[in-house]
Order: sequence, then C-alpha cells, then structure tokens
Amino acid sequence: MRLSTPKMNVMYKACMKASKSLIRDFGEIEKLQVSSKGPGDFVSAADKRSEKIIIEELLKVNSSYGVLSEEIGVLNKDNRDNRWIIDPIDGTMNFLNGIPHFAISIGYEENGEIVSGIIFDPIKDEMFFAEKGNGAFLNNSRIRVSNKKRLKESLLVTGGPKYNSKKKDNIFKEYIDVSKIVNSSVRKFGSASLDIANVACGRFDGYWQWELNYWDIAAGLIIVKEAGGFTTFMGNKEEISAKKNIIVTNSNIHDELTSSLIKKNIE
Ligand code: IPD
Ligand code: CA
Ligand code: CA
Repeated sequence: MRLSTPKMNVMYKACMKASKSLIRDFGEIEKLQVSSKGPGDFVSAADKRSEKIIIEELLKVNSSYGVLSEEIGVLNKDNRDNRWIIDPIDGTMNFLNGIPHFAISIGYEENGEIVSGIIFDPIKDEMFFAEKGNGAFLNNSRIRVSNKKRLKESLLVTGGPKYNSKKKDNIFKEYIDVSKIVNSSVRKFGSASLDIANVACGRFDGYWQWELNYWDIAAGLIIVKEAGGFTTFMGNKEEISAKKNIIVTNSNIHDELTSSLIKKNIE
C-alpha cells in the first residue's frame, strides 16, 4: 500500500480481515443458489460478519470514534468529529447472485468532512484508496479520472431506482433522456462504491444516482476528489445536505452532465 499513514493502515487491516470472511462466504453462494431455501439469510449473515470484523478492527485503535454502518447503524453517537462510515458489502444483490462485483467501503470523516477512504473489491483484488492531499491509488498505482472532453462520447454508469422509490418514473425517464445524449449505452453495475471508484480510475467518465445512502458513497468522495474528479449533489435542500443524490465525473464533462440532470430536476 502506497499510503502508509496510521489511518490508512487501520482501514487496510480491517478490509483485509473482513475480505477473507467475505471471499469464503462468496464461495458458498453457488451451492446455496440451488438449495430450496436460497442464499438470502446466509448473505445477510455474511454482511453482519463482515461488518463486525471491520468495526472491531477500527475501534481497536480508538474505541471512542463514532461509527455509521449500514447494518448496525450508529455507535458512539456523541462523537461526530471522528467517524467511520462503513458499508460492509456494497453490491449485495450481486453477491447474493454469485456475481463477482461487490466491495467493502470505509470512509473516515473528520469534523464532517471525509478525509480518507478505501474501497476494496476482494474478488478482483482491487483496492482503491485515498487520503486528503495525498492523491488516489488503485493498488500500487496512482489513479486519475479520464480526460474525455464531451458528454456525448462519455461512458456513463448509474444505478437504481429502488423498487419503492417515489421518483421511480422520473428516474427511468431521466435514464432515457441521458441515454439519448451519449453514444454508448449507460451502464448499471449494482455497486455504487465501485461505480465511483471506476470513475476515479478513468474506466467510466461519469456516474450519477438518486436516493443513495451516505455509506454507499463516503469513501468514494475522497477517492474521486483526489483523482481529480468533481462531485455535485442534487435535489432539495434536505437531500443535498444528506448527500443523497450524486453526480461524479471527470472535470471536463461535469457541467454538461450536471446541467442535463439538474435542468430536468426530477424531484
Ligand atoms: C446498493 C448498491 C447499488 C445501489 C443501491 C445501493 P447495497 O447498496 O450500491 O449499486 O444502486 O442504491 O443501496 O445494498 O448493495 O449495500
Ligand atoms: Ca451500499
Ligand atoms: Ca451494503
């Protein structure tokens, strides 16, 4: 790992430990898929196992740090100055279906700002990480967002809508509208953290999505920023402050994608 600060080291250790358990569990999925019960309960246990390992490792170093994690919720709620934001499996549907595209995502927030983050895809053995001011990396290499200049030529990725979304129809309409602007069809890969990581390393030129949770994107925010990318939040005041609806791109196409999304404002 190219960034060996104490924060990165603890995130790295937590990730590696949890990923061993995830890889083992992922290996069981194929067998469970053909069983009459299906893999649902097993996956939710795998999620909790991964989360427990991550939290234990992170809090070993400083037990007073706050935690916001998808399964367990909030720990040490009074500490809002130093917080871990965790998604123990991002891409659960992929995991559940034996599709090797999911990640562990850990962000570290200081006084309300994400200052370091790690997104680890244990199957492809790809670790994306960054710390404020120190650049972004994929394994041992420095990464940067793409240099694509025009939205029309860009490869975009999105996700959602959730099945019970009130914005569902608008989100589908927006997908069609954006699809008509770009030459290549818009991708959907089912892991928000990896979508952002893949913008950070230039595989995708842009990503947007409505109705996310903070743990889906926290680590990605610093990684894409340190890779030279731009981020904007959409929606009403409340949604913007909750960082729910996001646009992440390289620096060149940001205005073009943002204006085509915000202009239509689907709230
Ligand atoms: C989900 C994934 C997915 C996104 C959903 C998220 P989960 O997280 O990031 O790509 O479309 O909105 O909830 O449930 O797999 O942790
Ligand atoms: Ca998630
Ligand atoms: Ca999750």
